[in-house]
Amino acid sequence: MPGSVRDKIVIQGGGRLKGRVNISGAKNAALPIIAACILTQGTSRIKGIPRQLTDVKLMEELLCFLGLQVNHSGEGVLEICTEKENLVTAPYELVNEMRGSICVLGPLLGSRGKAKVALPGGCVIGQRPIDLHIKGLQTLGAEISFKDGYVVAKADRLKGAEIYLGGAYGSTVLGTCNIMMAATLAEGTTVIESAACEPEVQDLANFLIQAGAKISGVGTNRLIIEGVKELHSVDYQIIPDRIEAGTFMAAAAITRGDVVLENVRLDHLGAVMEKFRDIGVEITQELWGCSVKGGDNILSTSITTLPYPGLPTDMQPQLMSLLSIAQGTSVITEKVFPDRFMHIAELNRMGASIRKEGPSAIVNGVSHLSGAQVTASDLRAGAALVLAGLVAKGTTEISGLHYLDRGYESLEAKFAQLGARIERVQEEV
Ligand code: EPU
Repeated sequence: MPGSVRDKIVIQGGGRLKGRVNISGAKNAALPIIAACILTQGTSRIKGIPRQLTDVKLMEELLCFLGLQVNHSGEGVLEICTEKENLVTAPYELVNEMRGSICVLGPLLGSRGKAKVALPGGCVIGQRPIDLHIKGLQTLGAEISFKDGYVVAKADRLKGAEIYLGGAYGSTVLGTCNIMMAATLAEGTTVIESAACEPEVQDLANFLIQAGAKISGVGTNRLIIEGVKELHSVDYQIIPDRIEAGTFMAAAAITRGDVVLENVRLDHLGAVMEKFRDIGVEITQELWGCSVKGGDNILSTSITTLPYPGLPTDMQPQLMSLLSIAQGTSVITEKVFPDRFMHIAELNRMGASIRKEGPSAIVNGVSHLSGAQVTASDLRAGAALVLAGLVAKGTTEISGLHYLDRGYESLEAKFAQLGARIERVQEEV
């Protein structure tokens, strides 16, 4: 019987990265902005979409399933318009594959008066409930029930209201996106208190404003949305991916390299740059991006992840790889997803010395890492293993690539362009 094949990344560690690399459009901005097209009339044109990502492909598939037409018109450009307005079901197969698909709930309810969206399950970075999304939509007047693993929401027309969206771990990114999108077509004014203010939430708000929505307070924790009757089509460019940029900064740092990143918004990376400076990495703004120079010594530091403008949880695993070879001991505390530590065991297999204590990791810097066979447990954990592989002595083989393919476009090609000895190979299993 023929066996199946699976991809793995093979890295020969040791070299310093050098050269230029272009950062793609932000995955976590693209997903809600594509979903927001459910709310708009006419054909919207969105540029800078990281189209190779499986999450983006799944979101396109979901929109087609919901009666929208999605066309590709050039590299990273999508043209999206509504064909049928009577489809309201986001099936389990698509929602389960990608949690970001929960952000069709608000637009469907806001524009079609109904939504049936499969409940997303837990995942390796934590429980990821949607109670705040539900509370917000109920406050806007939606009738919500749960049936056969689906959330079923109905409302003739949503009514503006005051909504507090803070939870035990702070604000919610996709929850804020969902409520903001639903509120754009509601009757009257909605105020979201404790709103998430991540750059991706701001990008969605700017897209909606260009489409005719009335939103103020963008970039703050208090969003005010005055409902309008309809939204029109938009020609929009999405922001660069700050987490991909941060990942390449960490790669330059861990290999003591010298890398120029193009298409970067340093104003979105304040807390990340501050940490890199503490660690001894030099980051300089350039005309179209920035240059990143790793120091000869990697210094230990303490890190706490927080909602924006704090240090992003999506950079925590990559920073852990970097600190695993720092001089001295670092403490990393996770305040957004307190269980997001699956990568510790894999880094320790490569010779790191990290132990988990509650929501913190104590990282004792070691002199070097060693290549090993490891498995990515989620997207950013996978990125952390790539970084570890780049600096490890010997060969690192990383499996679980479907996670990496969700969030990093042309990962091996981009690292190879910087001189890394990295390739994707297929193995029989
Ligand atoms: N939370 C609740 N109730 C809710 C929603 C969230 O308790 O109804 C909790 C979560 O369990 C978590 C915290 O609130 O402890 C923050 O979760 P949030 O809702 O902000 O996460 P998300 O919107 O589901 C997005 C990104 C994640 C990123 C987080 C935090 C997308 C598609 N996903 O998820 O990105 O880690 O915000 O910044 O935008 C990634 O790209 O690798 C990734 C996981």
